[in-house]
Amino acid sequence: MNNSSHSSMKNQKVPFIVTIDGPSASGKTSVARGVAKKFGWNWISTGAFYRGLAYVAKLLQIDFESEFSEKINPLIEDKLIRLCQSSLWKVQMDPENTRVVFQGKDITNFIYREEVGEWASKVSLIESVRAHLLQAQRDCAQAGSGLVAEGRDCGSVIFPKAQVKIYLTASSSQRAERRALEEGSSPDLIKAAQKARDAQDSERKVAPLVIPEDSLVIDASSMDLNAVIQTVANTVLLKK
Ligand code: DC
Repeated sequence: MNNSSHSSMKNQKVPFIVTIDGPSASGKTSVARGVAKKFGWNWISTGAFYRGLAYVAKLLQIDFESEFSEKINPLIEDKLIRLCQSSLWKVQMDPENTRVVFQGKDITNFIYREEVGEWASKVSLIESVRAHLLQAQRDCAQAGSGLVAEGRDCGSVIFPKAQVKIYLTASSSQRAERRALEEGSSPDLIKAAQKARDAQDSERKVAPLVIPEDSLVIDASSMDLNAVIQTVANTVLLKK
């Protein structure tokens, strides 16, 4: 797996990096997209790496779910690591969405379902998998003058020296309603699934979801999207 950034496009200047971490469906993607557009920067959903890996693993019948207990089966772990290194699939930055391509076919539309988020959360527990995706995530910063990276460990692990760090959250009901609306499913079911996924992402040993040091915490429960984007943009302008 590789990503779409080109080392030949490496900027001399250190890129400006904004990280946005937070629980599921807190609006990280929409805010990252909006902030990146304001400054003419790239943005990346780092969750797409885990979603893409989990989705492609399922397509290839790598059964990471039933083999998942206290410790992953080493044979399955080995297959997942080889998949992390494989050129069968790639993650591509795009102004509208972070895309995933498998064997030349764009599979982006399939990976953002809540069910795939649950698979992604499972593969993201595996330390060796995280280690193998880290460099490709960091390389996303090489392709432009700035990058907005959203996920769970962007400010804590991927870009610990980011100039601006945001922790974005919202009430669990609002987060569930947002995803339910997108998927046409029941808010109650989504709420339960998100609760389990957030607990798994926060309680894992490696790179758990945390509020990074020096981050601005934004509770978007009573804010509209533009207000959140403007708050982040103002924070960027103060640091630029
Ligand atoms: O942000 P998302 O819903 O697309 O993320 C899907 C899963 O991927 C999330 O539940 C945990 C994992 N993830 C991670 O471990 N670290 C990241 N930086 C981003 C996502």
